[in-house]
Amino acid sequence: MTNTLTLTRPDDWHVHLRDGDALAAVVPHTAAQFARAIVMPNLKPPVTTTAQALAYGERILAALPIGSDFQPLMTLYLTDQTPADEISRAHEAGVVAVKLYPAGATTNSSAGVTDLRHTRAALEAMQRAGMPLLVHGEVTDPDIDLFDREAVFIDKHLVPLRKDFPELKIVFEHITTREAAQYVAQAGAHTAATITSHHLLFNRNALFLGGMRPHYYCLPVLKRELHRQALLNAVGSGSDRFFLGTDSAPHATHLKEHASGCAGCYTALSAMELYAQAFDSINALDKLEGFASFHGPDFYGLPRNTGKVTLKREAWTLPEELPLGQAGIKPLCGGETLAWQLAVD
Ligand code: DOR
Ligand code: ZN
Repeated sequence: MTNTLTLTRPDDWHVHLRDGDALAAVVPHTAAQFARAIVMPNLKPPVTTTAQALAYGERILAALPIGSDFQPLMTLYLTDQTPADEISRAHEAGVVAVKLYPAGATTNSSAGVTDLRHTRAALEAMQRAGMPLLVHGEVTDPDIDLFDREAVFIDKHLVPLRKDFPELKIVFEHITTREAAQYVAQAGAHTAATITSHHLLFNRNALFLGGMRPHYYCLPVLKRELHRQALLNAVGSGSDRFFLGTDSAPHATHLKEHASGCAGCYTALSAMELYAQAFDSINALDKLEGFASFHGPDFYGLPRNTGKVTLKREAWTLPEELPLGQAGIKPLCGGETLAWQLAVD
């Protein structure tokens, strides 16, 4: 049995850090686990310009613990109006990727894209620049069952998009279904996907086990066991099309435990421990380094990290709640004992 696992320092290719007091509360957790992270732009108001992305990056750096070398990788929020020259400006300024939220799909997505046809010029500029498009892949049509929205998105939007922009790098974010895993596995070298730890560890029963459990509610929502198994197979295959993206999404406790609770699981505090648990469950710990540390930078065309981290099989209990400015935040699995613990060398 493997009890110690040393890996190249990992990165998080999809995280929400928010702003202000919440940013200050959560960024140390991500910075303790990861060397870099792709930071989502769904702030209020969204990060739609290069100037906003650079200013947000500075606020993240200012909120880091002293001595941290964590590097935020900044993104732009795509809208129907994003001009091609904003993409070029962003690329030249070091903004790494652009996020597509279908309007209304999730938290702070109301300014998102209403019709992909409006984004042609921006997508062409991204394709030219080699800038990845990060896709929240769910249709928003209220007539489509919530659990089917990802699968329908593939046929309705992703397949045509892939065809129209054959060279565009596309990351299908936080995939949750067998259909998505199958699609990505055969879609060619310019398509990849991130997978969260919670979608690897839990199926939709977790939402209702012994009562309604809002801390397990995220978007895309947890799916049936067969889909969880397909995601485990995808990461266990060692395919470089799949890489780590926590989608850690902090929301204050009172907004999760609410009649209309916010979507998002807070996993930043124990991200690598949760992934280790998932990979361990299928005897695939030898595939964790590729998933967490190599496939992401290789796809983005960024250098791999050089430092190391060590995971030890050492039980510890996650705190139930932490401060989030004036409020609190409950990490996913708070109060529970985890089998693995991360130590940075
Ligand atoms: O669960 C989610 N939370 N899914 C998303 O797509 C957005 C995120 C958030 O920003 O809270
Ligand atoms: Zn997200």
